[in-house]
Amino acid sequence: MKLIHFDVIASTNTFLKDNYQNYQNFTFVSADEQTAGKGRENRRWSSEKGKNLLFSVLIKDKKLIEKYKTLSIISGYSVLEVLKEYGLNNISLKWPNDVYADDKKICGILLEAVSKQTVECLIVGIGINVNQKNFDKEYTVMPTSIRNQLNSCIDLEKFKTDIYSKLTHNFKLVAEDYDFYNQIKQYDYLKDKEVFALISNKKKLVKVLGINSDYSLGVIADNKKINLETGQISFSL
Ligand code: BTN
Repeated sequence: MKLIHFDVIASTNTFLKDNYQNYQNFTFVSADEQTAGKGRENRRWSSEKGKNLLFSVLIKDKKLIEKYKTLSIISGYSVLEVLKEYGLNNISLKWPNDVYADDKKICGILLEAVSKQTVECLIVGIGINVNQKNFDKEYTVMPTSIRNQLNSCIDLEKFKTDIYSKLTHNFKLVAEDYDFYNQIKQYDYLKDKEVFALISNKKKLVKVLGINSDYSLGVIADNKKINLETGQISFSL
């Protein structure tokens, strides 16, 4: 295993972006604390020191780089599989990047690419709330953690190796063209919900049909079926 751990770092994603040339495919960088943890859409990712799993995986495999569109949801599915093994119930995948437990966010994923003429590597950054009990009230969707869901503390080191093994196993299957769609579609959190989506820069209320086999999201907007490719989607009240 290629595991690197820091007590404190700005961001595990930024570390790999700056240093990817020195590390191999599937290097896993984790930290107890991030001083500039990044979320999607320029948001911060905050986490109590030593309580949660904060990590990034470096992807250099050309076959996986070609399949970049599938990697967020397959990463989320891999986290979901491990959470199920730990006994969590009612977990789902909120397309394209989040894992939910009982309508609360338990894991967020930030996929970044380093490009020159072509894409040199991908960095899959994942934050999983493990043993944190209390969260700020500022969130639009309330966070939860494994501890809050199970009412018991988790061995973070063991959880980390379980996640690493599952992710690398599933990424290798993706590289061999294994299709996760039938598994993934059973956990589609947004299916049949009404949500706001940003389409051509306009915020529209859409009805979600569900995740398609190419991992785009089918929705009905203005009485027409369209497929959304990116994650510009937020909840209706
Ligand atoms: C989101 O839901 O907005 C994505 C959050 C991703 C957070 C993780 S924590 C480890 C890695 N390093 C970062 O700076 N961000 C990701």
